[in-house]
Amino acid sequence: MKIVLAYSGGLDTSIIIKWLKDKYNAEIIAFTVDIGQKDNPKILEEKAYKAGASKFYFKDMKEEFVKEFVFPSLKASALYENKYPLATALSRPLIAKGMVEIAQKEKADAFVHGCTGKGNDQVRFEFSFKYLAPEIKIIAPVREWEFKSREEEIEYAKKHNIVVSVSKKSPYSIDWNLWGIAIECGILEDTEKEPPEDAYQITKNPQQAPSKPEYIEIEFEKGIPIGFNGKKYPPVQLIQKITEIAGKHGIGRIDIIENRYVGIKSREIYEAPAATFLHIAHNELEALTMDRELYHFKNIISQKYAQLVYYGYWYTQFREALDNFIEKTQEFVTGKIKLKLFKGNCIIAGRRSPYSLYDTKLSTYTKEDTFDQKASKGFIDISGLPVYLEGKRKKYAKRS
Ligand code: ARG
Repeated sequence: MKIVLAYSGGLDTSIIIKWLKDKYNAEIIAFTVDIGQKDNPKILEEKAYKAGASKFYFKDMKEEFVKEFVFPSLKASALYENKYPLATALSRPLIAKGMVEIAQKEKADAFVHGCTGKGNDQVRFEFSFKYLAPEIKIIAPVREWEFKSREEEIEYAKKHNIVVSVSKKSPYSIDWNLWGIAIECGILEDTEKEPPEDAYQITKNPQQAPSKPEYIEIEFEKGIPIGFNGKKYPPVQLIQKITEIAGKHGIGRIDIIENRYVGIKSREIYEAPAATFLHIAHNELEALTMDRELYHFKNIISQKYAQLVYYGYWYTQFREALDNFIEKTQEFVTGKIKLKLFKGNCIIAGRRSPYSLYDTKLSTYTKEDTFDQKASKGFIDISGLPVYLEGKRKKYAKRS
C-alpha cells in the first residue's frame, strides 16, 4: 500500500509513519505545504526520512493560498461567529488539494492525516479528499490507535528512535499560516483565565506596543488589497508586511469560545493581525461604496459563507455559487482606507473611492444641501402605511 501523509513534523505525524508501516506494511510519502508557517524544509525532510518515510515533498503553496482561499474569504467578509478569520479552516482544503496531486502522481492508495476525532480539521480534510479523489481511501490513525496520551506517544517514539523535538517544549498546540495562528491546549483550556503572554507568537502585547500611532493607507481593487502607503505589493508579500506592522501594534489577538462542527465548545486563541486589519479596512470600503440593500444582504451571505468554510464544505457547488455572488458585489469595492494603528486598535482615519456613494450635498446640514426635505412627507406616508393600519387596528381591538 502507498500512502500520502499530511506531515507536519510534530509528534503525532512522526510516529504515524512508523505506526502505519507496521500496521499496513505501507510505503509512506510525507507531504508538507509551505503556507507561511516558517518550517525549515531541510529539517523536516531529515525527520521524515528518519521516521521511516520513503519520500518527502515540500510544496510552496503560499501564493495559491492567498489568491484562491484567503482573498475570496476576505471579499466574502467571512468571520466565523463574527470573530474568527478562518486561517486554519481555509488551509485544509488547500493542503488536501496538494495531497491529491501527489497521490495521483505517485498512484497512492490512501490519504492519512494526523487529526484527532474531536476537531474540525478531520472533517475539512476528509470532505476535501472525498470531493477531489473519492476513489482513494482515508486513514486517520489518531482516531484509532492505542496511545492514550502524549507521554505514551513519546515513549513509542523513543522506543523506535523517532526524532521528536522535545527541546523547545511548548505547552500549546499551534497551527500557523500566513492568515493567522491558532493556539490551543495547556492553560488556555481554562476559560476563566487570561492567556499567558507566552501563548502569543507574533503580536505585541498592546500595553507594550508603540505609544506613537502609525498610519497605513491600504488600497483595494475590486475587494482585493493591492498595496499600501502608495506602494503596490504582490499578495503574499502584502499579507506578510501587514502582519508585521499590525502585529507590532498589538492588533489581531482574538480570544473566543467557539462552536466546533462536532458540537464541542472550545476556547480558542488566535493571532491574526493582517486578517483583522484587512477585514476592518475592507468592510469600511464596502460601507462607502455598496448600496444599502446589497450591503445588508451580503452580511447574511457572509455568515453562511464563514460557516460553510468552517465546517469544511469548501469544495461544493454551494461555496462556488456564493463566490460568484460575492464577486459581483465587489465590482465597485475599489479605493483607499486609512487606518490608525495604536495599541491593539485599528481606527478608521480616512476613506476614499472613485465609486463612493457618499454625497456630501445630500448629507450636509449646511446651505449646500440639495436634499428635498419636503419629499420626505410622501416617503413616510406611503412607506409607513402598513404601520399606520396596524396602529389603527390596535386601538380598535382594545375597544372590542
Ligand atoms: N478551532 C480552529 C479551527 O477549527 C483552530 C484549529 C487548530 N487546528 C490545529 N490542528 N491545531 O479552525
